[in-house]
Amino acid sequence: MNFSKSLCFLLFLTFSCASSSELPEDENPSKKFVKCLNRSFRDISDLVYTQQNPNFTQTLLSTINNLRFAEPDTPKPLVIVTPVSEPQIQTVIFCCKKHDLQMRIRSGGHSFEGLSYVSNVPFVVLDLVKLKTFSFDAATETAWIGSGLTIGELYYNIAQQSDVLGFPSGLWGSVGIGGIISGGGYGMMKRKYGLAADNVEDARLIDASGRILIRQAMGEDLFWAIRGGGGGSFGVVTSWKVKLVPVPRNVTVFRVFRTLEQNLTNIFHRYQSVAPKFPKELDIRTDGQSILSAASPRSDNRTMIFRFESLYLGGIESMLSTTTQFFPELGLVRQDCFEVKWIQAMLYFSNFELNTPPEIFLNPSVLLRINHKSRNDLVRAPIPVQGLEGLWEIMHEMPPQQAGVQFTSYGGRMDEISESALPFPYRNGSLYEFNMFVLTDTDEAARMEWIRSLGAYLTPYVSQNPRGSYVNYVDLWLGTNNLNGTTSYAQASRWGKRYFNNNFDRLVMIKTVVDPGNFFRHEQSIPVTSV
Ligand SMILES: Cc1cc2nc3c(=O)[nH]c(=O)nc-3n(C[C@H](O)[C@H](O)[C@H](O)COP(=O)(O)OP(=O)(O)OC[C@H]3O[C@@H](n4cnc5c(N)ncnc54)[C@H](O)[C@@H]3O)c2cc1C
Ligand SMILES: *[C@@H]1O[C@H](CO)[C@@H](O)[C@H](O)[C@H]1NC(C)=O
Ligand SMILES: *[C@@H]1O[C@H](CO)[C@@H](O)[C@H](O)[C@H]1NC(C)=O
Ligand SMILES: *[C@@H]1O[C@H](CO)[C@@H](O)[C@H](O)[C@H]1NC(C)=O
Ligand SMILES: *[C@@H]1O[C@H](CO)[C@@H](O)[C@H](O)[C@H]1NC(C)=O
Ligand SMILES: *[C@@H]1O[C@H](CO)[C@@H](O)[C@H](O)[C@H]1NC(C)=O
Ligand SMILES: *[C@@H]1O[C@H](CO)[C@@H](O)[C@H](O)[C@H]1NC(C)=O
Ligand SMILES: *[C@@H]1O[C@H](CO)[C@@H](O)[C@H](O)[C@H]1NC(C)=O
Repeated sequence: MNFSKSLCFLLFLTFSCASSSELPEDENPSKKFVKCLNRSFRDISDLVYTQQNPNFTQTLLSTINNLRFAEPDTPKPLVIVTPVSEPQIQTVIFCCKKHDLQMRIRSGGHSFEGLSYVSNVPFVVLDLVKLKTFSFDAATETAWIGSGLTIGELYYNIAQQSDVLGFPSGLWGSVGIGGIISGGGYGMMKRKYGLAADNVEDARLIDASGRILIRQAMGEDLFWAIRGGGGGSFGVVTSWKVKLVPVPRNVTVFRVFRTLEQNLTNIFHRYQSVAPKFPKELDIRTDGQSILSAASPRSDNRTMIFRFESLYLGGIESMLSTTTQFFPELGLVRQDCFEVKWIQAMLYFSNFELNTPPEIFLNPSVLLRINHKSRNDLVRAPIPVQGLEGLWEIMHEMPPQQAGVQFTSYGGRMDEISESALPFPYRNGSLYEFNMFVLTDTDEAARMEWIRSLGAYLTPYVSQNPRGSYVNYVDLWLGTNNLNGTTSYAQASRWGKRYFNNNFDRLVMIKTVVDPGNFFRHEQSIPVTSV
């Protein structure tokens, strides 16, 4: 479709539309906004949802991943727009500016803090869920992929083309391409191929003045910023050109569980330092929780159970000998391991059975959603046994299975890429990322307090100055922008340095050049400097 010659867009570029409102002053902002869209959308009926539309709530909820922000008292957008073309997005930007509405961009809706669909000022959601292009070029092994794809849909599309190509992105199939690449993005192949953002060659971005820019037109600074500087600060990325990576025809996976009674403390203590040193083909992640167990020696029957999950880019024999050589403490045996196609491994990491038809990825709503508060830290030296034992005690303070810890080991390719290559820092020498979450559907205040105290407990064990954090695990407890859009560099550094370290200054410079009016903003967007 080509609406780019639409009247309003032309007026928009010449700024003569701004004062020409023929609408009565008292008309509500939502109506004004829809009228503005209506001038250039050919048919708005199934692309624009006002609060009066019977499908408004269903559309809003469709991709809200954190159910903490799906409550009746969560602030709602005036309008949700689900564009199918870039000119429609240009019009949405124009109409938001004209009617002074904030715009939030949503791709997969997995923001931990609901940044893509919650705001405390009148706002519109630009929902990219219909931008699901997948255009594969066999000769260069690249693809242009729409921001509205989920990672599961991406993996499915790749597997339809080839058994020996993959893409290094996240684990959980319903996560959106738009958000995950904007913040870096990692999964079970990061040790071999780095971040999703490391494998992006070009992008199409719509900036605050409505221009559609590819890499060459946006320049290397802006192209750098959008590959890890966090979503929602620089523009709307509609699609990405990604380099697909080679994967073996068969890969190997395993998932094993270990409790404290099965020597978990020693196994995990060892994991911390060996996992980042494995050969690049081997990635083992782990997560854990406190459970009730008949085998527990404690009077409260509690133990910790960890799940160790792995992808190995090779066959079973080689996987077994590698894991046994580098990590004998895990006690892996052949029966734990399965040799499968890469796409089946991707299904496995979304908790589907290994033999599930990959088409299930086309229905991401079957994946579990929870109501949670999450936080994360970066670990650069192993937590000693005594520190781990204290951690288990804190985990036992919550009811069983209501809180979790998750560990993502680095090393391999991650060590080879400099801290400033992309906005994502802290690569070289970091052992692992440590995420923690608590379910907040009941007893919210006490559980929030609990996860705050867990963070305080970890202070001596995690990175400091700055205390590193991952922008894709966004955490508003680190601080927020002022609602009126005037946040000082010093204030924004409180979270900006934690996510981006020395790259924060460059992000602020780029933001100030490309979006001086701070149109693209949210609670933790990159600020504009006034000097
Ligand atoms: C269950 C779960 C599993 C996860 N697993 C992983 C994992 O394995 N690896 C990993 O690295 N991360 C993981 N994450 C974190 C994930 O990368 C981030 O939450 C990411 O921001 C989600 O992207 P989204 O498009 O789904 O989210 P959204 O909420 O739609 O967007 C997130 C942010 O990016 C902005 N944004 C979205 N699309 C665009 C766009 N096209 N252009 C510009 N800005 C945009 C939004 O405005 C918002 O600020 C996980 C999160 C969850 C909830
Ligand atoms: C959009 O415009 C068409 C004709 O141009 C009109 O019939 C329709 O009522 C308008 N819709 C809204 C919501 O303004
Ligand atoms: C609402 O959604 C249903 C299907 O989910 C569709 O049949 C119906 O036409 C939609 N109604 C409106 C007003 O968009
Ligand atoms: C537990 O692990 C430690 C350290 O790796 C080891 O010395 C010990 O033998 C293990 N115990 C059991 C029961 O496996
Ligand atoms: C622990 O388990 C025992 C045996 O099953 C049971 O009798 C007891 O009530 C349990 N205690 C707690 C605190 O759950
Ligand atoms: C791949 O694994 C399957 C079993 O899952 C096996 O039958 C097949 O021979 C393997 N192929 C290769 C090339 O190793
Ligand atoms: C990573 O750190 C090591 C040790 O400090 C150093 O020798 C190496 O040059 C660094 N690599 C990169 C890419 O920064
Ligand atoms: C914006 O908000 C901040 C904090 O709430 C306040 O200190 C500042 O004066 C405001 N600035 C303007 C221009 O309103």
